[in-house]
Amino acid sequence: MKNTITTFQRMKDNGQPISMLTAYDYSTAKLEDEAGINGILVGDSLGMVMLGYDDTLKVTMDDMIHHTKAVARGAANALVVADMPYMSYHISVEQAVENAGRLITQGGAQAVKLEGGVEFANEIRAITRASIPVMGHLGLTPQSVNAFGGFKVQGKTAEAAQRILDDARALEAAGAFAIVLECIPATIAERISAEVHIPTIGIGSGAGCDGQILVYQDMLGLYGNLAPKFVKRFADAGQVMQDGFRAYIDEVSARTFPAAEHTFSAADDALEKLY
Ligand code: KIV
Repeated sequence: MKNTITTFQRMKDNGQPISMLTAYDYSTAKLEDEAGINGILVGDSLGMVMLGYDDTLKVTMDDMIHHTKAVARGAANALVVADMPYMSYHISVEQAVENAGRLITQGGAQAVKLEGGVEFANEIRAITRASIPVMGHLGLTPQSVNAFGGFKVQGKTAEAAQRILDDARALEAAGAFAIVLECIPATIAERISAEVHIPTIGIGSGAGCDGQILVYQDMLGLYGNLAPKFVKRFADAGQVMQDGFRAYIDEVSARTFPAAEHTFSAADDALEKLY
């Protein structure tokens, strides 16, 4: 059965942890869905792990729609959330609603995610008024990498932690259905998760969140450019792929691939009738 935002809320209310992963294409979404993942985020992290940029800032609405379409086709059960890219919700409330709408109507997402706190309360209210569920995102919000001076843990001091807690309350009041808490101390994330009624989904924020999310390339060892402390490698798919690529190259070089079982035969007289 297709998961919805109601499923997420019910899981929090019942104390059941929510599992989420990112995906950016049909095949990966289908594998995650069949494994039983609760939700899939088409993250703007695709700018880094799929497109090779240094950060997420160059990702466009067209990029997001293209990848969301593919994921939505592969996710039979998982809730599909699509990221609103940088500058798609910063200019005006009208533009934020229009772009959120494109991710739903053109991309096939069930919900959108945007980064930031109380400063985006109006946008969140307007998007939810258009019946589009919004996931918030606080802490290390990667679209603010230049303002933060790098990818750094947030909310370490009492003042910084208070701002994140206040932002979480503001997001809930504005109508967000869940909040990603990225790279904040575990004690602060646990307090926020106890304080708000909507689910928190942690990444690098400890076990006290209502759910967890990871970028799938990180947890499968497919992206070596960054190695954040909070990532656990659950499989070494990168090594498996490289072994496969090397074996293929070796067999092509040795002319042992393709073998007879990989080739098609023609009619008996086809060759001799050629002129
Ligand atoms: O873009 C992304 O993948 C994200 C997750 C890291 C939460 O925002």
